[in-house]
Amino acid sequence: MEAATATTATDERPGTAPASGAARIEVTGLAVHFPVMRGQLFRREVGRVRAVDGVSFSIRRGETFGLVGESGCGKTTIARTILKLLEPTGGTIHFDGQDVTRLKGGGLKRFRRQVQAIFQDPYSSLNPRMTVGDILREPFIVHAMGLDRAGLDREVHSLLDVCGLPRRIAGRYPHEMSGGQRQRVGIARALALKPELIVCDEAVSALDVSVQAQIVNLLEELQKAFGLTYLFIAHDLGVVRHLCRRVGVMYLGRLVEQGDADALFDRPAHPYTRALLSAVPVPDPAIEAERTPQPLDGEVPSPVNPPSGCVFHPRCPIAIPECAAAPPAPRAMGADHFAACIRAGTPLPPSLALAPSIPIEGAAP
Ligand SMILES: Nc1ncnc2c1ncn2[C@@H]1O[C@H](COP(=O)(O)OP(=O)(O)OP(=O)(O)O)[C@@H](O)[C@H]1O
Ligand code: SF4
Ligand SMILES: [Mg+2]
Repeated sequence: MEAATATTATDERPGTAPASGAARIEVTGLAVHFPVMRGQLFRREVGRVRAVDGVSFSIRRGETFGLVGESGCGKTTIARTILKLLEPTGGTIHFDGQDVTRLKGGGLKRFRRQVQAIFQDPYSSLNPRMTVGDILREPFIVHAMGLDRAGLDREVHSLLDVCGLPRRIAGRYPHEMSGGQRQRVGIARALALKPELIVCDEAVSALDVSVQAQIVNLLEELQKAFGLTYLFIAHDLGVVRHLCRRVGVMYLGRLVEQGDADALFDRPAHPYTRALLSAVPVPDPAIEAERTPQPLDGEVPSPVNPPSGCVFHPRCPIAIPECAAAPPAPRAMGADHFAACIRAGTPLPPSLALAPSIPIEGAAP
């Protein structure tokens, strides 16, 4: 799918900064395949998990780009490849115009400072044997930032302040804190080296609803204060709509629809996006009682043997024979809205009626 770069009208939603100018990150034709090996003595490759297969998108400076899709569709694989924890099988990733796959030496060190991550489970991503103070001092030491003890303490206090944590927490261990406090520590650690891009992989998914709203608000405040760019991966479409200016929908390693969040949520064009959105319960009980959303037929196919043509065709409620022939090219559905479907925008069965709105409880409007 083509990277969508057109800018739409700005709005007042926090976290959806009017991100004009060059792309902070540009992913083009990204493929990540994992070999499937067999044999005890003579290991040989018998297939490939096509976890990500030809994904293109860009994120502008100061923008939040959401990535959604069912479990196993390749979201974390994209995140880990952007973070340089995995090597791509094909395609390119450019960060501020530089080819990430070719970075070495000083360029790579700078990249490791500029791109940080926040994960779903702060408990497993924080070292249980280190105090919060040690956890927050560590990035400055690893990256040899040349700070003395007093300088390190000043940085730790400032990180705790901006993340809404009391300074006394610096002496505590992860198990002595609540889930929300631990995630704030995870965010503080990600902020330590003044990053440009933060990859948030299910960063609020494990939290209670009220804590989730607080962390969403904190991410928005930090974005405004520091001009951060976010790649925000989540299952919760309400949170994604609230936080993201642009969104990509993944299915079986492909981006099937992407673009401006309002356009995509209000006028989803791809049958898979419509099915995803129709599965979200409507908060109004009267409207919900009238709806009869039905899950899609069948299982997600194996990424080792994806279907021919449009990989969604075995489950698509409006598939026609041509759908199995060739992968559909992305079609423009608006100024910044693309759908990879030869029948994009075709009316769907009433069972896929959409939820009119998805508010997120407790988050700033
Ligand atoms: N190291 C690996 N080796 C083999 N297959 C892998 C590996 N990592 C991921 N996969 C496979 O790649 C596919 C995509 O996985 P990924 O974790 O990226 O999905 P996801 O969208 O993040 O799912 P979830 O929503 O459950 O977190 C899955 O089929 C998964 O089993
Ligand atoms: S290309 Fe065909 S199978 Fe794929 S989503 Fe569109 S209508 Fe459905
Ligand atoms: Mg994942």
